[in-house]
Amino acid sequence: MYTGFQHLHSTLAYLFLAVMAVAMVYFFIALMKNKPFTNLSRRLALAGLIIVHLQLLVGVVLYFISPMGFSNFGDEAMGDALQRLYLLEHPLINIIGIIFITIGYSLSKRVAEPAAKHRKLLLFYTVGFGLIVLRIPWHVWP
Ligand code: HEM
Ligand code: HEM
Repeated sequence: MYTGFQHLHSTLAYLFLAVMAVAMVYFFIALMKNKPFTNLSRRLALAGLIIVHLQLLVGVVLYFISPMGFSNFGDEAMGDALQRLYLLEHPLINIIGIIFITIGYSLSKRVAEPAAKHRKLLLFYTVGFGLIVLRIPWHVWP
């Protein structure tokens, strides 16, 4: 089960990078060219949101079954940069990033004007994406 969740978390991470990159570029161009809020805008925003919510669920499960997660909590692990990344920084910062993305999605639904929708999505998705990318364990992945 542990290996299965590791693979799922890793696969979702690829999807996350791909979908979020396309979404941010699309929102940027749509904003610059003052385009209408299309079906594709809505689907890209929703795809990004669903992927990070799924990743949150899978990540939390992984956190409790991985030897590098909750079970490793302690002073010694905190003093080690790599162990602290898995134990604290990756989960915490990524949850904050996911919250940004969720807030962006939510706020964009509440405004009517296309430029305002794209602007909210671009801003919050970019900040969320940036935070998450800063705390991906790049030394072991991809
Ligand atoms: C969008 C958000 C996230 C992304 C893109 C992401 C991505 C990744 C990646 C790429 C790895 C390395 C996988 C590998 O070594 O094959 C990883 C490991 C891990 N992640 Fe996440 N993660 C996210 C959110 C979370 C959250 C919210 C949690 C926990 C609450 C979490 C818990 C873990 C744990 C415990 C590991 C180590 C798993 C192991 O034992 O190998 N992740 N994550
Ligand atoms: C730990 C688990 C989860 C938490 C805490 C969570 C939290 C939230 C919150 C707060 C919202 C509200 C956003 C808004 O104001 O519009 C939301 C929306 C949503 N979540 Fe999650 N979620 C979780 C897991 C999932 C999973 C596993 C999926 C599906 C694969 C999912 C799919 C969605 C979708 C599609 C929406 C937006 C619906 C819409 O308004 O169009 N979530 N979630």
